[in-house]
Amino acid sequence: MFIGLDLGTSGVRAVLMDDDQNMLASAEAHYDVTRPHIGWSEQNPQDWVDGCRSALSSLKGENPGHMSAVKAISISGHMHGATLIDASDEVLRPCILWNDTRSSKEAQAFDKNPIFRKLSGNIVFPGFTAPKLAWVKNNEADIFEKTAKVLLPKDFLRLWLTGEHVSEMSDAAGTSWLDVEKRDWSDELLEASGMSKEQMPKLVEGSEASGELRPELASEFGLPKGVIVAGGAGDNAASACGIGATGEGEAFVSLGTSGVLFAANNSYRPDPESAVHTFCHAIPSMWHQMGVILSATDSLNWLSNITGQKPSELTAALGSEVKSPNAVKFLPYLSGERTPHNDSTIRGSFSNIDIASTSQDLTQAVIEGVSFALRDNLEALRQAGTELDRIIAVGGGSRSDYWLSLLATILGKPIDLPEKGDFGAAFGAARLAQASVSNAPIDQIMSLPKTAKSFEPNLNMSQAFDDAYQQYRALYPALRGVYS
Ligand code: XUL
Repeated sequence: MFIGLDLGTSGVRAVLMDDDQNMLASAEAHYDVTRPHIGWSEQNPQDWVDGCRSALSSLKGENPGHMSAVKAISISGHMHGATLIDASDEVLRPCILWNDTRSSKEAQAFDKNPIFRKLSGNIVFPGFTAPKLAWVKNNEADIFEKTAKVLLPKDFLRLWLTGEHVSEMSDAAGTSWLDVEKRDWSDELLEASGMSKEQMPKLVEGSEASGELRPELASEFGLPKGVIVAGGAGDNAASACGIGATGEGEAFVSLGTSGVLFAANNSYRPDPESAVHTFCHAIPSMWHQMGVILSATDSLNWLSNITGQKPSELTAALGSEVKSPNAVKFLPYLSGERTPHNDSTIRGSFSNIDIASTSQDLTQAVIEGVSFALRDNLEALRQAGTELDRIIAVGGGSRSDYWLSLLATILGKPIDLPEKGDFGAAFGAARLAQASVSNAPIDQIMSLPKTAKSFEPNLNMSQAFDDAYQQYRALYPALRGVYS
């Protein structure tokens, strides 16, 4: 029996998986993001611990017999967050999250220094960890001075679970401090950011053990003594493990708070100019490329808050047949954008609204805009030398058949929806837990799921959506600079 934990942006999920990878139970707890200023996005690390405690307690309450058979736990989490702790492991300030863009000046300064792209393989995006520490140094010098360790969000949860400071390659690759090819902290990058190796956690591979569960927690949750806590992964690499995207070219699209188009690679193939991210995978000797957009379901959630209708009600109102492209266009840059623009100041927009436009038109424009942004990511991956064949869909947005049919047509690729439903990252974490204590080959553990439904591109509509995509593409250069 194995437990996978996924520390998401809106809540934590814990799943219980048996040795044959059947999902026996899952539990969730939710928490908030605070946005004290425009461009800021923070969370209180104690909320993660409280959420995790509540999810594990629910698992125990419903499955006491299974809990005593758990051999290993693993953790997935939202990436890039800076959790600063002092020499006594006390949290020094709220965690600065992946979609926080306050450190754009610091990011630009690092990015101008060629060693960052050369060694980390990536643009230094404002959401990455290194520029956040530079911002803290420039704005909260007393906190910077007291920072004994910088932990990624899920690694803070690991500290609570095991008492150890450990990270793993897939998440560490998103800090701008890792030599992504060598899979080790880079002294040069740390020095260029005014940081030291002592402030970094130890590194393991995602599928290796990182420590043991603390005995107090084992007895609190009815778990045996000596449960292994495996390295785990950043949420995207974990989702890849969950749907078996661990071999060359295997791909998924994630419609979560952020949107991701991900492809696994069997070699290190950076291409920072395309704004594609190149990170280590969660399994040894593998890497991955991905395009990342900052507001995928976040865009629909925003519309839902404005209109007072649930996201599922908004998409249900569109019916089941994909409609021709809407005249209204939406740019989903509500928190700025990473791939392909690397622009933290751009913001979202609706354009071409008519006096007759309805709330349905706005919904359609939003999900089309997010899908066009993912098409931008497909083009960026192409530029980086990666061509995708089929794509598996994960994340909350994949519950909408309309959205998946639309996306298949806009990307011009078949999209498969896995049979087991939306267990992506937590399921991937459970598989990494299994890999850490099993002798079975990794490919066997990270197998491809059965497909529940496939969505083929609608060729009759391809031309119309290609034309609409060209209109969408023209909007960003026209708007850039107007408001900044
Ligand atoms: C990836 C990224 C997001 C977060 C949150 O680079 O920033 O996907 O991991 O899901």
